[in-house]
Amino acid sequence: MVQLTGKNIVITGASGGIGAEIAKLCAARGANLVLLARSMDKLEQLQNSLQERYQVKVDVFQLDVSDTNQVQKVFKQIDETINEVDILVNNAGFGVFREAHEATIEEIKGMFNVNVVGLMVCTSMVLPKMRERRFGHIINIASQAGKIATPKSSVYSATKHAVLGFTNSLRMELADFNVYVTSVNPGPIATNFFTIADEKGTYVKNVQRFMLKPEYVAQKVVNAMITPTREINLPRWMNMGSIIYILMPRLFERLGKRAFNKK
Ligand SMILES: NC(=O)c1ccc[n+]([C@@H]2O[C@H](COP(=O)([O-])OP(=O)(O)OC[C@H]3O[C@@H](n4cnc5c(N)ncnc54)[C@H](OP(=O)(O)O)[C@@H]3O)[C@@H](O)[C@H]2O)c1
Repeated sequence: MVQLTGKNIVITGASGGIGAEIAKLCAARGANLVLLARSMDKLEQLQNSLQERYQVKVDVFQLDVSDTNQVQKVFKQIDETINEVDILVNNAGFGVFREAHEATIEEIKGMFNVNVVGLMVCTSMVLPKMRERRFGHIINIASQAGKIATPKSSVYSATKHAVLGFTNSLRMELADFNVYVTSVNPGPIATNFFTIADEKGTYVKNVQRFMLKPEYVAQKVVNAMITPTREINLPRWMNMGSIIYILMPRLFERLGKRAFNKK
């Protein structure tokens, strides 16, 4: 494992779920943190507990990543506060499970503005310095939904496919600059994500026994920091599914129909 002591790590969507778990593990390994999200109360609570427990520097800023003016302002403040960002974890995101004909324009724009545009704009804020310093790591939290699109997640899947496309291109652009780019593609994780995504609770009920623990996903992410890890795919059996899907999409969709309709 690479040493994280003294490294400056910025995490979007750090007020809960895997973002908060990643923050805890980074603090335990001595990193300085900048935590971003809309819920300032939760960020401040996490800030206090991490500073007290690990004696690391933790800065928090309120940020809605879909507001590009705010992103520019906050990253300017971050620049003034910590000067150099070593690792950016683009984690903020949400989904709404609905069939395409039922998805509202507001939801479609909302998911793209947070999951895709927000992630790209946050990334663009740190790229010039990382390229100049020839050091850094950008970690994008995508999803298995970015590999296999299933019914009732057309819009969410499309956002995560976009994240994967962006991430793969970025990795090649930065290959000669010593800046690492990793995508994280987990299956279902037991977080508050499903409060919005699965309002009827049917998906959670059906997949509860397969759900990953946020602490486990966070551990995998933190272990990969400052290493040239291309992708983190969890759980392994689901990743096998996405490989078979690429090879035999028609057969995979036919055989998986019942399972895919569990949302
Ligand atoms: N849970 C899963 O099954 C699963 C599976 C694969 C991938 N993922 C991805 O993992 C990431 C984290 O999700 P999670 O499971 O940890 O969900 P979560 O518990 O709902 O956490 C989402 C985080 O994103 C933040 N966020 C949401 N909208 C935001 C916005 N407009 N601006 C800034 N921050 C925003 C939330 O904070 P505020 O509300 O305070 O802003 C919260 O901290 C997401 O990108 C999600 O798509 C989740």
